[in-house]
Amino acid sequence: MKAEASGRRGKEIQLNPDELIVSKTDPTGHITYANRVFMRIAGYAEHELLGRPHNLIRHADMPRGVFRLMWKTLQGGGEFFGVVKNTTKHGDYYWVMANVTPDFDSAGQLQGYYSVRRRPSRQAIDTLSSLYARMLEVEASAGKARAPDASADWLAAHLAGQGLDYETFILRLLSDTSTAAKTLP
Ligand SMILES: Cc1cc2nc3c(=O)[nH]c(=O)nc-3n(C[C@H](O)[C@H](O)[C@H](O)COP(=O)(O)O)c2cc1C
Repeated sequence: MKAEASGRRGKEIQLNPDELIVSKTDPTGHITYANRVFMRIAGYAEHELLGRPHNLIRHADMPRGVFRLMWKTLQGGGEFFGVVKNTTKHGDYYWVMANVTPDFDSAGQLQGYYSVRRRPSRQAIDTLSSLYARMLEVEASAGKARAPDASADWLAAHLAGQGLDYETFILRLLSDTSTAAKTLP
């Protein structure tokens, strides 16, 4: 069952600062592994996740351009960092700072992808929430087929206006989060 944001906004679920959500997928983005924190936060049992496409937890507030950028980075063999709003089975939502990497076997063959997420800082959530809202507007006016490229291009141009590329921008937000996490015992 996919929880859509159809009018019902849901409540925010927060990860504890020391918790990690981990999942793996096959090369087509179907889930092959989920850790217990993932199951608890997203509200799914293991058998409801395994074999399902990872867009099961996609939140309607997430611009398609973010995932376009993610898949381009991964398919180019790179590592992706992003701040993602996800939906739970029951229509609530949670924000994560995600690191997604390609998973190669010892022969160098792509086995799939691997993602580790933790709680982002409130500042990162606020910054990305307003950027994503702008990206959704760009997507709405671009039309469905052009939407992912249009909003990804808008983001790149917006960050370039501040002298930043996406990776520099997102890694700065990440390092703010790790500073916050270091205050834990
Ligand atoms: C390892 C891995 C982890 C992913 N994690 C998420 C996630 O937490 N939330 C999400 O919405 N999409 C995630 N995705 C991306 C989805 O596969 C999908 O591209 C995205 O939800 C957009 O949906 P769409 O492809 O149907 O447009 C992940 C993909 C991979 C390969």
